[in-house]
Amino acid sequence: MSQKKDKERGILRKEGLEAYKGVFDDSTERGLFRLISQGIITKVVGPIKIGKESNVFAAESNSGKRAIKIYRVSSNFKKMYEYMAPDSRFIGMKRNKMSVIYAWAKKEYRNLLKAREVGVVVPTPYAVYKNILVMEFIGDDEAAPQLNKSHIEDPEIFYEMLISNLKKLVKEAKLVHADLSAFNVLNHNGKPVIIDLSHAVTLAYPNVEQMLRRDMNVICTYFKKIGLKIDFEEEWKKNFSRK
Ligand SMILES: Nc1ncnc2c1ncn2[C@@H]1O[C@H](COP(=O)(O)OP(=O)(O)OP(=O)(O)O)[C@@H](O)[C@H]1O
Ligand SMILES: [Mg+2]
Repeated sequence: MSQKKDKERGILRKEGLEAYKGVFDDSTERGLFRLISQGIITKVVGPIKIGKESNVFAAESNSGKRAIKIYRVSSNFKKMYEYMAPDSRFIGMKRNKMSVIYAWAKKEYRNLLKAREVGVVVPTPYAVYKNILVMEFIGDDEAAPQLNKSHIEDPEIFYEMLISNLKKLVKEAKLVHADLSAFNVLNHNGKPVIIDLSHAVTLAYPNVEQMLRRDMNVICTYFKKIGLKIDFEEEWKKNFSRK
């Protein structure tokens, strides 16, 4: 093993990565090492959620806790490619597996940044490197729970706050989330935080209105289930109808 590799291994051990040997492939491990050596994070703390397409870990930095989302290199890149191809922001994207996965991570980073700029409550993105996205950690000691796994004191107020964020996302950031559900909203001390913007598309995307209707319908259905007296068509008209 080269001296450089030896040194990297030593630092990885110190920075909490060794416990995850076999969890990260070599390229991801090198990516994490780079983020650590650049000072963007200082330590990987532990898993928040191990998923099919990505793993999310808590990490530390000199300016507070971070969440890092690591897209699996075994993700379904063909689906990702087909999804991104009609998006003018990705013209010229190469069709090979790693380029597509890196573009997907970059897409989520840019979407979060755009949303954040107009004041939508999403995790602030700090960096993206290859398949690794570093963002604000949402939570306190523990990560905030997903909406569907949490108890909401006042569903009506929570719903209103969520819709106000959704309107800002569409009308000011000009983005449609396209994968909105009670899994992709966190409940941070009674306030909604929208996450998982990897699917989000610009308003120029084909069928974007259908996608927004779907998002809105999923949210309305969820809040109806937990007791709110709302009607999807009425809510649609009130918040998004162009008339
Ligand atoms: N910034 C964050 N702070 C705290 N927890 C987070 C954060 N981002 C994600 N999580 C946790 O990790 C889980 C998975 O994150 P996310 O929904 O972004 O990924 P995913 O569903 O695996 O993504 P995809 O559907 O694109 O594969 C979330 O439900 C949440 O519990
Ligand atoms: Mg998700």
